[in-house]
Amino acid sequence: LSQVLFADPNRPPVVFHWIPVFGSAVSYGMDPYKFFEDNRKKFGDVFTFVLLGRRMTVALGPQGNDFVLNAKLSDVSAEDAYQHLTTPVFGNGVIYDCPNHRLMEQKKFAKSALTVQAFRTYVPIIVGEVRNYWLKSPQFFGGNPNRASANAHLMTAMPELTIFTASRTLQGKDIRAKFDESFADLYHDLDRGFTPLHFVFPHIPIPASFRRNAAQKKVSDTYMAVIRDRRQRGDFSEFDVINTFLKEGIYKDGVRMTDREIANMQIGILMGGQHTSAATSTWALLHLAADPELCKALYREQIEVCGEDLPDLTYENLQNMTLLNYTIRETLRMHPPLHSLFRKVRSDLAIEGTHYVVPKGHYVMAAPGVPMIDSKYFKDPVTFRPSRWAEAKNEINLDDSGEATTVSKGAKSPYLPFGAGRHRCIGEQFAYVQLGTILAMFIREFTWTLPDSSGVPRPDYSSMVTLPSEPTNIVWTRRKVGEKKPVA
Ligand code: HEM
Repeated sequence: LSQVLFADPNRPPVVFHWIPVFGSAVSYGMDPYKFFEDNRKKFGDVFTFVLLGRRMTVALGPQGNDFVLNAKLSDVSAEDAYQHLTTPVFGNGVIYDCPNHRLMEQKKFAKSALTVQAFRTYVPIIVGEVRNYWLKSPQFFGGNPNRASANAHLMTAMPELTIFTASRTLQGKDIRAKFDESFADLYHDLDRGFTPLHFVFPHIPIPASFRRNAAQKKVSDTYMAVIRDRRQRGDFSEFDVINTFLKEGIYKDGVRMTDREIANMQIGILMGGQHTSAATSTWALLHLAADPELCKALYREQIEVCGEDLPDLTYENLQNMTLLNYTIRETLRMHPPLHSLFRKVRSDLAIEGTHYVVPKGHYVMAAPGVPMIDSKYFKDPVTFRPSRWAEAKNEINLDDSGEATTVSKGAKSPYLPFGAGRHRCIGEQFAYVQLGTILAMFIREFTWTLPDSSGVPRPDYSSMVTLPSEPTNIVWTRRKVGEKKPVA
């Protein structure tokens, strides 16, 4: 009753909860989209809920995205919202463990590595990694190149393929080689210390936290050893992010990034793209498994763009595969890996167009996935239909000004899987190169179906990214050797 009687009229309405500190943790945690929708019906686009002692004000819709993601630096802080979770994993001095202006420069250094020139070299490398993976992995040929069909568990295969291809391209041969030794286990230990539980209790004294701390040091030391080795050999020839940081990692004020910071940045970059991209390729393959017509059209596109005998992919080929890129775009529309983006409020923050003020110390939250499945912006939003993007202009109706903005640009777009504003993702282009190459390889080599008639799995929100719930299996069949013509 007190929640209703003593409500401050200048504060957004608060979602009712029975248990004081715990708040709405269960209903939000189980299905954030249902939670947002149920409360939007009661309160409109802006409301506050209690999440394990934190007061979160959600702002839904494109306006809400703009409010949170484009808020002034003096008003909100991402580092105050994320630092406790990320620093034990990435290490000190980078990303959220430094002032925001440092993060902005670190992102700029990383971005300068992610060029078209680099991507041209990455596509054939990814092709090689995928082939090698298929050959060895028990999910695919398991050492027997004549295997014609098998059941593969995607949530095993896609994280492995993602980390092998990302480490080889973004961090070079020497780092990739470490993944054939113990490096993958160390990254697993980092992962197990990067959970919703650690979001609430970053240093909870359980084995996973101790293993995370030990792994952070070992992984960071390994990157430092690689950096020293490259210096000794004088070999900076690959277009990778480590080399770019070594060349360009000098801040505007003349301070040079230390080897430790460059090392920790590598963990941040690899982790930033790992679960997001692995989840995306898994969702895409599951949707394709349920849509044989789309798979045929994608196979035809491979032939149309590359020619009958399907020579190895190039970066330029990928740019011409419109349907493939729409498929990735559609996957991210229905399954954006990050459902909630937070900022901590640094000074009382008025919400434009309302009489609400969010006080200092509370959090604001954007949920870019909400407009992405809103029929106001996307016709029949729960249907996976990549071809909708060919008609995108008709379907994306933007803010009050009626201005049609480009998809994925500007915080008022209803389509923001990569965020917006100063914390926007730097990995979008790389993700498209990596996902595009991997998916094209699957389309060329296999046809596949879901193992039963249960359809595409439902989302599972229990980890840091939105994953498909288990089982995430497909049954693949190799296309007949020599099959060059699209199946009729
Ligand atoms: C930031 C999504 C891949 C590195 C973000 C944000 C989102 C996002 C939504 C904004 C976070 C916020 O505002 O709080 C995705 C998706 C990906 C992906 C959907 C793949 C499908 C990658 C990759 C990399 C990467 C491959 C590295 C190469 C980063 C970095 C930031 C970021 C450094 C900036 C964090 C900040 O400024 O606070 N990403 N990402 N991401 N992402 Fe990605």
